[in-house]
Amino acid sequence: MKLVIGSDHNGFELKKIIIDFISREFPQVEITDKGTFSSEPVSYAEIAESVALEVSRENAERGILICGTGLGMAMTADKVPGVRAAVCHDIYSAERARKSNDAQIMTMGAQVIGPELAKKLVAVWLVSEFQGGRSAPKVAKMVEIDEKYRKKA
Ligand code: RB5
Repeated sequence: MKLVIGSDHNGFELKKIIIDFISREFPQVEITDKGTFSSEPVSYAEIAESVALEVSRENAERGILICGTGLGMAMTADKVPGVRAAVCHDIYSAERARKSNDAQIMTMGAQVIGPELAKKLVAVWLVSEFQGGRSAPKVAKMVEIDEKYRKKA
């Protein structure tokens, strides 16, 4: 599985922890780090766009975005066509984001949760797959709405 990850300055330290965790526990996951690479302030929107584009273009199956709250990252990533990004701060939501919503991107807030919970959320989210079935038409409707309002470039 190819996974792309990014954070702003608020998520920088947690991003390092998550990269180490995934490398250790999920060695089959190929990680691309889109930054940021220091604690200097950076716009979360730019990082979210670069990660979401990789998912939208199908260069990566999954993405993880970390900022202070996870909110700006999710809002921005969800603007990119074809992307479904979800804030995941509890185990149940992390699992449902995959199983029900087929979210390719999870976002987290480093000012909201600690590293141990973040690692558990990532683990659950990585192993959970879209269940299809009754969830399939709902996700299909999301895709339809996305395409309906998409601006032509
Ligand atoms: C700082 O830019 C802060 O707004 C950011 O880390 C995040 O919490 C945004 O949603």
